[in-house]
Amino acid sequence: MTEKELKKLLSEMSLEEKAGQLEQLPFGFFEDGNTVLTGPMGEISLTREQIALTGSTLSGCGAAKLRRVQREYMENHPHHIPLLFMMDIINGCDTIFPIPLAQGAMFDPQRVKKAAQTAAREAAARGLHVTFSPMLDTVRDPRWGRVMESTGEDPYLNSENAKAMVKGYQGQDFGKTGVFARDSVAACIKHFAGYGAPLGGRDYNAVELSDRTLREDYLPAYKAAVDAGAQMVMTSFNTLDRVPSTANRRLFSDLLREEWGFEGVSITDWAAMAELMEHRVAADDLEACRLAMDAGIDIDMCTGIYQFRLPQLVKKGVIPVKKLDEAVLRVLKLKNALGLFEDPYRGIDEDAEQAILLSDEHRKQARKAAEESFVLLKNEGGLLPLDPEKSGKVAFIGPFSDSGEVSGAWSILADPAKCVTIRQAAEKKMKKFRLRFAEGSAFADAEDPIAGFDGPYIPGASGPEEELIADAVEAAKEADTVVLCIGEHRLMTGEASSRANIQIPAVQARLLRAVSAVNRNVVTVLFTGRPLDLREVSSLSKALLVVWFPGTESGNAIVNTLTGKNNPSGKLPMSFPWCVGQVPVFYASFSTGRPVTDNNRDMKFLSRYMDIPNDPLYSFGFGLSYTSFSFSEVSLSGKSIKRRGGKKLTAGVRVTNTGDRAGECVVQMYIRDEVSSVARPVRELKGFKRITLEPGVSEEVAFEISEKMLRFIGIDGKRKSEPGKFTVYIGEDSSTMNGADFALM
Ligand code: BGC
Repeated sequence: MTEKELKKLLSEMSLEEKAGQLEQLPFGFFEDGNTVLTGPMGEISLTREQIALTGSTLSGCGAAKLRRVQREYMENHPHHIPLLFMMDIINGCDTIFPIPLAQGAMFDPQRVKKAAQTAAREAAARGLHVTFSPMLDTVRDPRWGRVMESTGEDPYLNSENAKAMVKGYQGQDFGKTGVFARDSVAACIKHFAGYGAPLGGRDYNAVELSDRTLREDYLPAYKAAVDAGAQMVMTSFNTLDRVPSTANRRLFSDLLREEWGFEGVSITDWAAMAELMEHRVAADDLEACRLAMDAGIDIDMCTGIYQFRLPQLVKKGVIPVKKLDEAVLRVLKLKNALGLFEDPYRGIDEDAEQAILLSDEHRKQARKAAEESFVLLKNEGGLLPLDPEKSGKVAFIGPFSDSGEVSGAWSILADPAKCVTIRQAAEKKMKKFRLRFAEGSAFADAEDPIAGFDGPYIPGASGPEEELIADAVEAAKEADTVVLCIGEHRLMTGEASSRANIQIPAVQARLLRAVSAVNRNVVTVLFTGRPLDLREVSSLSKALLVVWFPGTESGNAIVNTLTGKNNPSGKLPMSFPWCVGQVPVFYASFSTGRPVTDNNRDMKFLSRYMDIPNDPLYSFGFGLSYTSFSFSEVSLSGKSIKRRGGKKLTAGVRVTNTGDRAGECVVQMYIRDEVSSVARPVRELKGFKRITLEPGVSEEVAFEISEKMLRFIGIDGKRKSEPGKFTVYIGEDSSTMNGADFALM
């Protein structure tokens, strides 16, 4: 439809119809018995007639089902306007990719884009139109369970991934023509804004960020996604500067629409409109409705308030009809861009759906992504890769050694039975090895807090703890090498999964102690959705491989890595703290007025802890390989850049593979502003490149440094660069001291 036709349609719609376009209800309202609830369900007092006008739904999925529901819905709708189907397709649809945090560890936006493209292809085949992804919150507090949904602590890395995901989901055609191809879906970025910094790491808690910190560290990824064309933005549950996002005019109207020029659709997070009453900024649902509309929120997710109250408020003149019309038009435009007015089914059919879901090609993509995301934190004595001769008898021990619970909390459609377990892969791929398997323990103690979407989850095991451990100890004694497959259960991270103690579950720690007491050759394969306190795990393991939640191809990717078919190349996208007392701890920290240096360690009045180091156990950007790389000194194409009209500088290094096997190296560039009008991070990531090197081979890696990269919000509140000295560091992780100076004139 043309814009003119859309406007004509709008002009013919009743007030009730318009309000309906701005409401979203769970799929169970359209087809009984099909409700996946991803939030608490309150009373929704809408009539049947009203529900028949509701413009969008979430978490319904499947070509046949959505075709049927769409047909019935449109038949009954006065203007036959199609229904919009949305869902959380986070790290894959049916073919599950590594969780977003693991995708951050890939330091490879091209592969991130590919993962999003594959997810979109499957989601579109299943009949979906919009995915509630990517989640772009900057995350620096691993107590918060939702860190698994982000690509990490760094605004630059997150921005690169944000662009990649939006482009991957929405496809090339949309970028060029404004019309979605049939194998793409619209991206809804979330949670706007600042949700990643809840006080105390407790989910849904208040957020306190200075405007400067918000703009410097928390907004860049959202901005990058908006610039990349993301079509929807979701509110966050938190308050920011004491204003809940869903009532935050400053965020949604002044910043998002006016400053950034966002023209797409905004939506609340689940029931966030009703939560305005819990926040106590609205006395009742009428006020909540008015506040949200006034803030610039288009769609109300799962409360019914908009649909119930908007007509009344418009009739009373509290909400101008123009404002309502603008919001409805945005929703209609999205439906139009998805081609729904031409074909409300977007060509879906069951055969095509079945052919595409979990196809060999998609599994291959998922496996490659998983392999790239693994981070090798330790490899004493080159225990890895395993070798049929050298490693002797190998015992795989632990609750993850034969489990399909490997997909992360947000993989609603994941089928554990379709995920390759470590045991399945090992039995197939490690025929030359002598293998043994033992479950070892439950995922968690019965009293550990684990809850699923549909109620409490009791992490069961096949027998009593003593028997499982005894069996594991016997297997470990008999083996030359133990591969201990342990970590958090997938439901220990994700939404509503904050933890104050970020260690592996106690029952698995007991298993680790028992096994490592009888066999020193422990390789730990760690499943996790958050950075954990790994002091004990690391000290009792000779090798430590973080595999996050790898998804469908988990076992294959892990076994390929353990046996050296894949050489690990992932880097930490978030620092792993020494212990929880340091949290939040991140590499781009501040010098403070009392920094600890090599020369003043004996002094008292310094910014440090008495009982633990300042540095995390494993820092951002860190990750080992089975080979080693050396870096030449940093060379610069000049000594300075001019602030105005100057040429860019090029910083280069020569990287050499000094080991005996091919490997991929993530070359990272950080810049430090030596003196500036406001205190700035000790260094900031400004570039990275993933290169592959055969043994003995070198490659020149060059990065451009532009004046724009050096800008920040100065003391006068303006974003600009300031003349002075800078240092550029290029190396293998955020602690590299391989640097060179240049000036900005
Ligand atoms: C989550 C969102 C999600 C929404 C819909 C909420 O509880 O916070 O991230 O997109 O539910 O499932």
